[in-house]
Amino acid sequence: MKKILFATSECVPFIKTGGLADVAGSLPKYFDKEEFDVRVMLPNYKTIDRKWKEKMVYKDSFYMNLAWRNQYVGIMEMEYDGVTFYFIDNEYYFSGDHPYEDGAWDIEKFAFFDKAVLSSLPVIDFRPDVIHCHDWQTGLIPVFLKDGFAENPFFQGIKSVMTIHNLKFQGAWDKQTVMDITGLSPYYFTPDKLEHFGGSNYLKGGICYADAVTTVSESYAEEIKTPFYGEGLDGLLSARSGELTGIVNGLDYNEWNPATDPFIYHHYTISNWRREKKKNKLGLQEELGLEKNDKVFMMGVVSRLTDQKGFDLIECVMEQLCAEGTQFVILGTGDPKYENLFRHYEWKYKGRVSSNIYYNNERSHKIYAACDAFLMPSLFEPCGLSQLMSLRYGTLPIVRETGGLKDTVQPYNEYEGTGTGFSFANYNAHEMLHTVEYAKYTYYNKKREWNKIVDRAMKADFSWAVSAKKYEDIYRKLCGE
Ligand code: ADP
Ligand code: GLC
Repeated sequence: MKKILFATSECVPFIKTGGLADVAGSLPKYFDKEEFDVRVMLPNYKTIDRKWKEKMVYKDSFYMNLAWRNQYVGIMEMEYDGVTFYFIDNEYYFSGDHPYEDGAWDIEKFAFFDKAVLSSLPVIDFRPDVIHCHDWQTGLIPVFLKDGFAENPFFQGIKSVMTIHNLKFQGAWDKQTVMDITGLSPYYFTPDKLEHFGGSNYLKGGICYADAVTTVSESYAEEIKTPFYGEGLDGLLSARSGELTGIVNGLDYNEWNPATDPFIYHHYTISNWRREKKKNKLGLQEELGLEKNDKVFMMGVVSRLTDQKGFDLIECVMEQLCAEGTQFVILGTGDPKYENLFRHYEWKYKGRVSSNIYYNNERSHKIYAACDAFLMPSLFEPCGLSQLMSLRYGTLPIVRETGGLKDTVQPYNEYEGTGTGFSFANYNAHEMLHTVEYAKYTYYNKKREWNKIVDRAMKADFSWAVSAKKYEDIYRKLCGE
């Protein structure tokens, strides 16, 4: 049995700010249980819901040095859906209202978490063959593993994988502070290791020291070797391209299933969606105070409201996107500029535009089920899960051809009768608008074609079946098989 430990800063169903949580919470369920024992470690944030806290069992605790600091590390345990989860407990670090807070504080918080993950392993007597680290928050684990921990026989031979979910976020801070926090010697702070443009960089440390590096789609794996997408790490990623693999994310098809989803108004399947799906539209229109009409073209957005997701394009042509014959439903939080933009348009087009400026998982399911189309014109997109959710619910994604969006949405080709959605190439507001208008035209005027696109979208398979096998191959290779 090979033992794998996931180290992550978020994980469904306990704590989620974005797609990383979906991946960390669902992928472990899809490994071959005969061959792999996969467990997950994450912080025990104060904001994790009480219903989960009540199910956690105290396992052990100890004090740990983090440079000159001496900090409490508690380990809580819970089995959920066949997977063992460990929660690193420390009220000093994990009492914030949000998993991610202020820069300097996060730098210290996740240095603590990374060291605590490694320090906990002998205590719980779980010696992983591979530690699978996700994003910058766990970037110091491969570094610590080669540093102090290497002297302890327990840790010898443990391999690490670093998965990049978003290269934009790197955990960059000044060297002196990071040395003070981590206790790592100046040896590590050179440009071939943690140093980056004079500062220090957790993700860079992870990329340098991990035995394998992956990212969440094949296209993004190529893109990040170029200056535009590389966020200053393109040189390093090119140098490590031999160990860099793109593996597209999957979706938890049990949780995201229109035939069983407990949150939606009406269940439907690939064989009855033509009759049943629109009942979800009527339900959502009623709930949001939109004009009730199951024939109107309804377009949705569920997203962090940031520049990454292409909201400057939407801002540019928002007036035209809200044209007659379209209902536009937005769910998201983020940049106040975009929050206010959407609030304004809801006020301006009451009954036609609905802006839901908060985070709500249940409502997100209702939107994926109710809409006809889903808009995701990202500037860059490592993978994207929202478009996979849309495909699964027969809601046609309209995306920009970048990263994982390009790999998962096949553009409609009216001549060949192929495609699962709509896409455009250039980061240009009018190109996006034109594509939305083309989708809307197809919806209203080529209904049979539209319906066939929905059939194909719902048939596309983005369950974890294929991608989990690719991670298994990486683990096997690292274990010397
Ligand atoms: P990212 O991780 O970059 O934010 P993804 O598409 O990979 O983008 O994943 C986003 C996830 O977060 C999806 O599961 C999406 O449904 C969810 N999500 C984003 N904003 C909200 C919100 N306001 N309410 C509920 N779910 C949200
Ligand atoms: C990041 C990316 C997103 C990806 C998710 C899960 O948040 O922005 O594209 O789907 O991680 O890998």
